[in-house]
Amino acid sequence: MQWNAEMYQNKHLFVAKYGEQLLEFVNREADQTILDLGCGTGALTRELAAGGARVIGLDSSESMVEKARENEPELEFYVGDAAALPWEDRFDTIFSNAVFHWIPDQRKLIRSVKKALKKGGALVCEFGAAGNIQAIQEAFSAEMKARGMVYHSPFFFPETGEYRRLLEEEGMSVRRILEYDRPTPLSDGEKGLRNWVVQFFTEDLGRFSQEERERILRAMEEVLRSRLWNGDEWVADYRRIQAVAVKEQ
Ligand code: BEZ
Repeated sequence: MQWNAEMYQNKHLFVAKYGEQLLEFVNREADQTILDLGCGTGALTRELAAGGARVIGLDSSESMVEKARENEPELEFYVGDAAALPWEDRFDTIFSNAVFHWIPDQRKLIRSVKKALKKGGALVCEFGAAGNIQAIQEAFSAEMKARGMVYHSPFFFPETGEYRRLLEEEGMSVRRILEYDRPTPLSDGEKGLRNWVVQFFTEDLGRFSQEERERILRAMEEVLRSRLWNGDEWVADYRRIQAVAVKEQ
């Protein structure tokens, strides 16, 4: 998908804020080499590097990497594909927040991560679990259906059992894996939900005229208000899966 880095940074900073909790599983000492996989605009890359570790940020979006370089000029950022990393036995930790659910070929991704890790190195990741944004996807799907279209979710939202199996089948040792509800307040008051939908369902919405898009967004707000509006702000129905897995050999 095409990312709008400016909007992402201004309206979706919560993504990095929640990712901070994941940092506690990362050894960030000065002798460590870390890859921030799907670094976005670099907010967590900076945190990963704060203790002196050598950190590289990688993102598939040129506009995100451009923004990350602007935000953190002293850090190293590259545009690249998470499922085809160019490194071998290079990192002590590969860290990834809110990215893996975008990647269709999960086996290719895990192989790519495993190859880039040093022996003994760890993957520390968090992303959408089964049931993530279920109400939002259902509301969007209903609007597509009303217009004679079928919505195909592009996301990978696994249960812990499924993801553990995948990691183990690809030779990783799972040290921690859990899933949890993480209702996530969206910034910008009344506009929060539509900002989110416009940012993340860009391609599907792009098929419609401006007027039709507006109708879709209004209909979604109406349908979702009783479940996701708390009187002050929209709260997205996020569910997370968190995993720490080690490359033992
Ligand atoms: C998420 O972080 O869970 C997410 C973000 C955008 C689209 C789908 C899921």
